[in-house]
Amino acid sequence: MEGSTGRKFNVGGVWLDQPFSIRRLGHFGFNMADVEKGLAFYRDLIGFQVSDPLDFRNVLPDPAICDGIENTTGYFMRHGNDHHSFVVFPRPIMNRLAGGHAPPEVTVNQITWQVGSLREVGDATDWFDEQKIFMPRRGRDTPGSNWHAYPMDPEGHTNELYYGMEQIGWDGLSKPPESKARGFMEKPDLPQIPEYQEVDQFRDQGVDLYSGYRHEETAPAIYDVGGISLPRPYKITRIGPVRLFVDDMDSMLSYYAGMLGLSITEEIVYDGHRCVFLRANTDHHSIALYPIALRETLGLSSHSTCMSFGIQVGSYQQLRDALAYLADKGAETKHLPEELSPGIDYSAYVMDPDGHLLQFYWYMEQVGWDGRPRPASERRKTVDPWPEALEPMSDVYGGETFLGPLG
Ligand SMILES: [Fe+2]
Repeated sequence: MEGSTGRKFNVGGVWLDQPFSIRRLGHFGFNMADVEKGLAFYRDLIGFQVSDPLDFRNVLPDPAICDGIENTTGYFMRHGNDHHSFVVFPRPIMNRLAGGHAPPEVTVNQITWQVGSLREVGDATDWFDEQKIFMPRRGRDTPGSNWHAYPMDPEGHTNELYYGMEQIGWDGLSKPPESKARGFMEKPDLPQIPEYQEVDQFRDQGVDLYSGYRHEETAPAIYDVGGISLPRPYKITRIGPVRLFVDDMDSMLSYYAGMLGLSITEEIVYDGHRCVFLRANTDHHSIALYPIALRETLGLSSHSTCMSFGIQVGSYQQLRDALAYLADKGAETKHLPEELSPGIDYSAYVMDPDGHLLQFYWYMEQVGWDGRPRPASERRKTVDPWPEALEPMSDVYGGETFLGPLG
């Protein structure tokens, strides 16, 4: 699809339709009715690690927004070394903050995309302003230290473009609280100093560099996952895709393909409904759009425009072990037709306390230089019961690779 302005932008020496290039889905989040229940589900059951709690009473310019709300803390969580790949925030506060900009059934906290540089974030900020795209925030937030702009989609889902996510290292500590001194509420002037110099500055000011938050794991590490003992019989290795129900497919495609520059990989018609799959980089899809009429047909919760959020685990074996483990722990499951997920073979859905679906899977079809997905006739045919082991596809274990130790 053409860029919406017809102009070309020099992005690192390459002419593109947007002044940035989205490289990957970086993080995602849900606003939940009871954030503490959400924490127990996503941390203790699913296995995300908390990288930083954030009490909104301490950070909002007008803390009165929190009046009458019991649980006011949001949780930044991670599965790898990115400071956060998932967040759970209190829905009552988020609904008040959204004002009239997002309907209450937008329970997606954010859909967040990594671009290649701080300059790309800055140029994106100017461009979205020019296009009159509503942006509730810009600059640089802590916790996480990522530089960003928050362009909202036409149906009220907050997207974010960012560069420079804080990396959590071997000691598991996030940055010290004093790092918020390097936060920005506006687009910064360029160039900015590197993180190395920021750390030097904190050290010179006497900041305790080891005073950040460290996740506390309470479950015993009793499962052998690829030769490492972990608290669960699987490792989350990647997040996404995000699946949304949409009111106006054309305007949402103008935004996600025309504005954000995601590529349309494939369209399907399911029960008369047009469903569209878009990608960043080589994954078959990072986001998928489905008509809202499907929500009721599929028997999904009417409280949210999110159909599901994907959680990739490290292997087919881990997927089988994960589903057995989650069933044993009493997780509620849901079946959705496989045709709704082209590019993914074996997968299953688990429901969170608010009714959001998590799609657990292990394989994502990879799209190469010619931009074409695998013909449907060449895809794996799943069978029931699931086999012990699978024959490989040409793109098995392809795509984004998990970095670092599993735990
Ligand atoms: Fe974010």
